[in-house]
Amino acid sequence: GPIQPVCFPLALGAVRAGVELGAAALDDALRARLIRRGFPDLLNRLRPAITIPAPQAGDEPLDGRRRPGEAMYLDEIAASMPPLASAVADAIRDGALALALGGDHALSLGTLAGAAATAERLAVLWIDAHGDINTPETSPSGHVHGMPLAAALGRGPSVLTDLFAETPPIRPEDTVMLGLRDLDPGERAWLAEGTIHYATMAHIDDRGLDATIADAIDRLRASGADAVHVSFDLDVLDPLLLPGTGTRVYGGLTFREAARLLRMLRDSDLPIRSLDWVELNPALDPSGGSTAVAAELLAIALGETTD
Ligand code: ARG
Ligand code: MN
Ligand code: MN
Ligand code: MN
Repeated sequence: GPIQPVCFPLALGAVRAGVELGAAALDDALRARLIRRGFPDLLNRLRPAITIPAPQAGDEPLDGRRRPGEAMYLDEIAASMPPLASAVADAIRDGALALALGGDHALSLGTLAGAAATAERLAVLWIDAHGDINTPETSPSGHVHGMPLAAALGRGPSVLTDLFAETPPIRPEDTVMLGLRDLDPGERAWLAEGTIHYATMAHIDDRGLDATIADAIDRLRASGADAVHVSFDLDVLDPLLLPGTGTRVYGGLTFREAARLLRMLRDSDLPIRSLDWVELNPALDPSGGSTAVAAELLAIALGETTD
């Protein structure tokens, strides 16, 4: 079916300039790659990108100043989400895969709200070095890109949880997280409650990548959800491979591991209706290598084959 890119050049959730450049860079690099590699069918399925305006920082520089318990740019970010959610919901209702290109991971507030609105029951696969299940109280940074999944699970400030029509919009038992290796104390405490299914990088190393992915797919299928949202934070990749991201953590996925994960998902029977591709910061890798890696993996996720 068709693929609808939705660009959302948000940087306020990461409080780091440059990540807003990722959306257009990804769309351009993806199309250029599909042309160069000769995948006309895939290119034909790719609709022209829609760009939803994202709030920008004012005259004050983006920096780390913050009062304890505060979430930075909370109201601006929350107010920007309904148009993004609508664009995602429209694309899904129109039979397309909604492909959100970021921008920072706070955009998942909007994509999850839009995807949940079109589904009876939405399951989520969160692929990330981080949990992104902080609340303003547990966040060490005050950055909203560390909070979107919490809000989608019903925890956090009402200005975020109110973005969702149902409460909780996503059930913790319908949530699977992969690639984790940098969790904050409050996030670890939540995961220790035992309802969210998750695999850290250490789990992946102990159990093996294929078995871990197969478990994740089984879990998502068994949830009975009628739609699955996949959120791919590029910082799940090892920073030696993708340095162009703002919160780098060593020990991430290699290119081949990520490609295998994405092929297994693509070739699974999961009803994946929406996909986030976030946290590319081209300004942090002027070589262009990070953008190229991000676009190559996206092409694989969308169906590019080597044979
Ligand atoms: N856990 C850290 C925080 O809450 C980092 C979050 C990074 N999130 C991301 N989407 N890259 O600040
Ligand atoms: Mn719903
Ligand atoms: Mn992350
Ligand atoms: Mn993230």
